[in-house]
This record gives sequence, C-alpha cells and structure tokens, in this order.
Amino acid sequence: MEKIGRNDLCWCGSGKKYKKCHCDFDSRIEEFRHKGFLVPSRKLIKNEAQIEGIRESAKINIAVLDYIEEHIQEGITTEEIDKWVYDLTVAAHAIPAPLHYKGYPKSVCTSVNEQVCHGIPSKDVVLREGDIVNVDASTIYNGYFSDSSRMFCIGEVSPEKKRLVEVTKESLNVGLAQVKPWQPLGDMGHAIHEFAKQNGYSVVQEIGGHGVGLEFHEEPFVSYVAEKGTGMLMVPGFVFTIEPMINMGSSKIYIDKHDGWSVYTADGMPSAQWEVQVLVTETGYEILSY
Ligand code: MF3
Ligand code: CO
Repeated sequence: MEKIGRNDLCWCGSGKKYKKCHCDFDSRIEEFRHKGFLVPSRKLIKNEAQIEGIRESAKINIAVLDYIEEHIQEGITTEEIDKWVYDLTVAAHAIPAPLHYKGYPKSVCTSVNEQVCHGIPSKDVVLREGDIVNVDASTIYNGYFSDSSRMFCIGEVSPEKKRLVEVTKESLNVGLAQVKPWQPLGDMGHAIHEFAKQNGYSVVQEIGGHGVGLEFHEEPFVSYVAEKGTGMLMVPGFVFTIEPMINMGSSKIYIDKHDGWSVYTADGMPSAQWEVQVLVTETGYEILSY
C-alpha cells in the first residue's frame, strides 16, 4: 500500500486529512491482515459521497420493485414486468443494470418456480396461480449501482412453496444479524446455511452475492454455504449483497444451454431467493436496497 502522510488527503476521496479519516482504519486493517484475515482492498471502501450516490440509485430500484409488487398478478407475462422495469427506470433518468450486461438481453431477471435465478423475461412465460417468482432488479443512477430482489406469490400458492418463500425471506434477517464491522463474511454465510438446513432446505453453492456500488459485480464472491471465521472482513464502507438461493430439494443446478443464462434446479423442485444490498457501518449495517 502506498504511504500517506497524516496530513495528506485520505485515499478514500473524502477530501479530509488522512489522520482524520482512514488512518486508524488502515492500522486496524493491517492488524487483521497479519492475523490472516482476507481484508477488502481500498477500492471496495466507499466514502460518504459514494454511499449517498448508491442510496439515490437504490431509491429508484426500490420504487421499481414496489411498482411490481403492486401490479404483479396472474395472467401477465414476465415480458410485461420487463417493460415496467425499463419504462420506470428510464423515466427516473436511470439505466437498468442487467440490460446488455455481458450480453444479457433484458432489463430485469424473472425466475419462476424451479428457475433459481437469471430467468429471462419472455412473452411466452405467463404467470399462473400457484407460481412463485423472483424479480431481481438492478439500477445504475449517476454511475452508482443498486441491486435487490423480492419473491412474489401468484394467487393461492401451495403451503410448501409459501414456506420456502418465507423461510428464504427470514434467512436474510438471520444473515443480517451477523453483519458487524470487523467480522468475516463467512459468519454471515454460515448462519444462512445453517438456518436453511434446519428448515429442511439446501443452498446453492455456485452462485452467490457480491460487492456492489461503483460496479455491478465487485469483489468478493459472497457465499451462503461458508465456514465461520472465513471470507473477507466486513468493514465500515463495504457494500455487498445478501442473496441466498434456497432450494426445496437438492442444491444441484444447471444453466439452460439454449439461452446461456437461466439457472434451474437439477431436480425440478422450487427455488426461492431474496436479495438485500447492505452497507457495513461503524456499529452494524444499513440496508441500502431491499
Ligand atoms: N441481479 C443479479 C445479481 O443479483 C445479477 C443479474 S446479471 C444479469 O447479482 F445479467 F443476469 F442481469
Ligand atoms: Co446481486
């Protein structure tokens, strides 16, 4: 790391002197690094102006999900949801982050029943009573990224599917309870895995969460099958997602060969996912997008 004088400007871009900003933070980071912890690089630490930018982006992302929550119903296609997302986002002078991301063709991901994630909206997918669907929205506003997703139940849903949706939602709270500064991410992932297993479910291993804010997908990969005491240290200013994919049956998945995106459970059983974007603070966390 480059040496900074105590009276120089801080590396975080706050405009404050280093001694009044991230000087003590850096000493602490060094201590943890020596103890063998994986510590975040400086580019993963957001300053107050960047956090405010992410909050503004998240306001739009949340409004988009709120609109979907109010209007989603039996008989609509996932293509219609995609149009809502595109229109609302553009009207807010923002950009849907998924659109053209690594060749992704739509503005949002809609994953129905045994679809685990990255389902592509289509005019051929009509929502039917009994379906459970994840809508994963991500927004770029002023260069800042927000990302969160919710599950929706269409009409009357079987008690089994309803429980899967509710347990998965509750797993976010179980994970959030472990979001504390200077603790490793693995504690959070481990807690979610244990909670899912206690409820008779499995957790997808290959896909997980990520840092987010200045880019769509930043370091690190965030696992929800992690071991306690492992993974990157959560420190103030670090922003990441908690987005476990919880399966009713086995954790095995595959990617659709034809579209290259949609992920399905191998056994055809339902899967659920909720996603929050969180900021680690001096005392705990702040939910940025939900
Ligand atoms: N929003 C997803 C996430 O939570 C990423 C989707 S990538 C896309 O990480 F290209 F499929 F949109
Ligand atoms: Co995400």
